[in-house]
Amino acid sequence: MVMVSATEMIQKAHEGHYAIGAFNTNNLEWTKCILTAAEQAKAPVMIQASEGASKYMGGYKMVVDLVKDLHDSLGITVPVALHLDHGTYEGAKACIEAGFTSVMFDGSHFDFEENMAKSKEIIELAHSKGVSVECEVGGIGGTEDGVTSNGELADPKECAAVAALGVDFLAAGIGNIHGKYPANWAGLNFERLDEINKAVDGKPLVLHGGSGIPFDQTSKAISMGVSKINVNTELQLVFADATRKYIEAGKDLEGKGYDPRKLLKPGADAIIAKTVELIKAFGSDNKA
Ligand code: 13P
Repeated sequence: MVMVSATEMIQKAHEGHYAIGAFNTNNLEWTKCILTAAEQAKAPVMIQASEGASKYMGGYKMVVDLVKDLHDSLGITVPVALHLDHGTYEGAKACIEAGFTSVMFDGSHFDFEENMAKSKEIIELAHSKGVSVECEVGGIGGTEDGVTSNGELADPKECAAVAALGVDFLAAGIGNIHGKYPANWAGLNFERLDEINKAVDGKPLVLHGGSGIPFDQTSKAISMGVSKINVNTELQLVFADATRKYIEAGKDLEGKGYDPRKLLKPGADAIIAKTVELIKAFGSDNKA
């Protein structure tokens, strides 16, 4: 099966009150693990790559070929969408051209008029090629690809205006942040989520910074219109932890423990286990 746009899987998730996990990839291992986990859990899945990660992997075409080829050679049967995470105007256009099946245009750092104009243009271009689009209103706190945004609560009126442009799903800050949550984090702002959900009139919402949010909060957010949850940091943390334990136990010094296929295995297994756990927590298991 070829990769699909995310429109249908997100729409079904919205109607069925669960969320699609959108997991960031960094390389071959990550991509393989996310696909394997989705297949194990029988879940539709979004694999997403930031512009920085795409550059690291060798460019947008490389990312498209990697996901497509692994998808086919692993015999993946669940629906898979390849999504650009936090795309610039230029990056979103380049990914539509390169074969991504979904793109995010993040114009949240522009003034609102410019965000609207550019979002409209990307939505029209993407839809003309059958590609789904996510846009963002207000910043998501934290740091992503070296860019820090401080805005944390999106304006419901602005959300309504971008939703009306025909975007497929909308990212809006509700107190969530990228990266590790600080110990004194106040939690998601459900009052604002409720206002936004009412303002966007049934448009599926996206929760960024999905790493480390307690599951009772993600479940409540899903019941209030969130249909896509982004996770990056959490997979990086479990990979690093498992790899550190392997090396600290001196396993790389035993036999051929230095072989990358052995050295990276505990980390890869940890990514698969965490991805399956998150898919189940988001309720998208057995929905493929
Ligand atoms: P985390 O790294 O906090 O999981 O956030 C991922 C994200 O929102 C990608 O857009």
